[in-house]
Order: sequence, then structure tokens, then C-alpha cells
Amino acid sequence: MSADIPLLPFEQGRHLLSVLQFDRQGLQALLNLAKAVDPIAKRQAVCTVLDGAMLCSLFFEPSTRTRLSFESAFLRLGGEVTTTTGFTFSSMAKGESIHDTARVVSGYSDVLVVRHPEEGSVAQFAAASTVPVVNAGDGTGEHPSQALLDVYTLESELGARGKSVDGCTIAILGDLKYGRTVHSLMKMLSLYEHVSFRLFAPPSLELPQSVADYAQARGHSVTVLDTVVEAVSSADVVYATRVQRERMTEELAQANAKGDLLNRAMLAEADNLGVVIMHPLPRDSRPDAYDLSTDVDDLPGLSIFKQTDNGLNVRMAIFLTTLGVGLDAVTLTTKQRPWKATLRP
Ligand code: NCD
Repeated sequence: MSADIPLLPFEQGRHLLSVLQFDRQGLQALLNLAKAVDPIAKRQAVCTVLDGAMLCSLFFEPSTRTRLSFESAFLRLGGEVTTTTGFTFSSMAKGESIHDTARVVSGYSDVLVVRHPEEGSVAQFAAASTVPVVNAGDGTGEHPSQALLDVYTLESELGARGKSVDGCTIAILGDLKYGRTVHSLMKMLSLYEHVSFRLFAPPSLELPQSVADYAQARGHSVTVLDTVVEAVSSADVVYATRVQRERMTEELAQANAKGDLLNRAMLAEADNLGVVIMHPLPRDSRPDAYDLSTDVDDLPGLSIFKQTDNGLNVRMAIFLTTLGVGLDAVTLTTKQRPWKATLRP
């Protein structure tokens, strides 16, 4: 199901539903804003620019970092947050429609952040909302704020190595069929020049052809490899993803539960122990999981927790943009903090 919402450029007063709302210039503006608010994200400074503003977050699928980082971002800008999680504790359990829920909740808030298991459902929220709606993941559809924080991380990690996102080689591994972060990331990276995508997916979890076509039509190379080692061998970055077990039959999930997706030995065999390692998280740590091994955690390129930290910056930039707050107003309402939250060595 979907709603006919035009995907207009992301700016003040607009919903954020899809990465397709960005061109290269719009993306750069958002990334610059995310960088500028770094002292607030790092809690070196305290900001009250969103004093009086209310965020309502509605999460109808499990989430840890996405919900908490959206809420933390709003709180760090001085706003207030209300939240509801799961179907059980909202009136959707009594059969209320997306339309009615969105109309009611938008009467209480200035922005909505919504995650829902059905593709197109967040656009339906947006169609009935009287305030901007941010898509925090709609089924296997899109996850635009994750793509923004992934690109922010790619820019800073590749930049620190004297490389650029333009012309980079990125290996993308795992569940490429149901993983919405992969779909959004590949479309967003298509705004850059000459990206080489090297894909590895287990049988039945291959990338939808439409996403490959999208990247190829914009001049990028998309190569499907038979092994992880081949995919990773010439890569600047490896982006691993978990199997989205909740979106498939138990039979298919079991068929894919077979050891590590990526571990240190594979990176050593690919002669690429220094590669930038990314993952949208969560990393599946159950004994039968098929995911990124923890034995890569002390490698120098591990960037998975940089991604989660960067999520704060990017989500602050999303709120400032849709609420029409410029950097001048942020600076005027920011002061040094008198307290320290750092642990002593
Ligand atoms: C991702 C998601 O929800 O799509 N998680 C996240 O938001 N960082 C990836 C996943 O669940 O595997």
C-alpha cells in the first residue's frame, strides 16, 4: 500500500520519506549542517533552539538506536518528546486506521517520526498528518535517515584516509533483498560519481533488480560476486547486514543460518584487513546467526559505532531542516555546559 505523496526536495515544512528527495547539493547541505552541530551532539555544548517544540515518535517495529537517536537528537536541541511503541499499546490494537492515528497525533506535535512494517505506510501517515513526518523505516521500503548517516560516515571515514566517496568501491553483503538500509544507501550513493558496488547475498536474498537498475542507470557499476572474499578484496568499504528474519519464513531464515557472514579470516584472505567496516546494526549475536563476527572489532577500520554516533548529528540536521531553523538561531541558543559526563581513566 502507498499514498500518492509527491517526493519534493527535503526542506522546511517537508516530510522526509525517501532518499529520492535529495540531489547532490541538498545532500551536501544536510551533511554540512550535521557536521556543524557536532559540539551539541557530543554534548560539549547545550542547545535550546527547539524550546517548546514537540516530537512524537511512533514505532510499530522493534528499534533501539533509531528511536533513541531520533529522540535524543530532538531533546539535545531543547525540544520535548512523546512516544508510543508497538501496536499493542496504541489504538491501532482497537482497529484505528493509519489516517486517523496520524491526524490525531499530529494535533499534539510539531514533527512525527514513524516506523511501520509495511512498505508505503509512512507515506500514508504523511498524507493524513498536519505536521512533517520522518520515515524511520517502512517495511522493506526505505530508511532515509540511515542512508544519510551511512553517507555521513562514509564521507568522514574515506576522507580521513585521503579517499573520496566519488569513485569508491563498496562491498555490500548479506540480506540485500529485505534490507531496506541497502536499498536506501545504494540509491543515495547513486548521487555520487562512479561508485563500484560489489554485492554478495546468500541464495534467495539477492538485491531487487530495480535497485541495481537504478544505480546502473546513473553510471555506477554493480557486480554480483560468488563469495564474500571476492566481494571484499578490492573494496574501500564493506557494508554488512543481518538476515531480516522477521520478514521471511522460518524455513528461509534457517536456510541462511550458517556461520559468519564476514569475519577476520575472510578479510585476511582478501588481503584487506584495513577496510572500513560498516553495518547498520543491530548485529545478530544469537548462536545460529549469519552476520558480522565480533572478531573484527579491534580492526582499525571498524566504523559501526561511529555510524551510531553520527546518527545523532544527522537526525538533528533533519529536525532543524524540516522545522526551518538556521545555524544562526542554533548558535544564539547554544552555551557551553558546566558539567562533564566523561569517565575518568
Ligand atoms: C536497520 C533497520 O531497522 O532497517 N536497523 C537500523 O535502523 N539501524 C537494519 C536492521 O534492522 O537490520
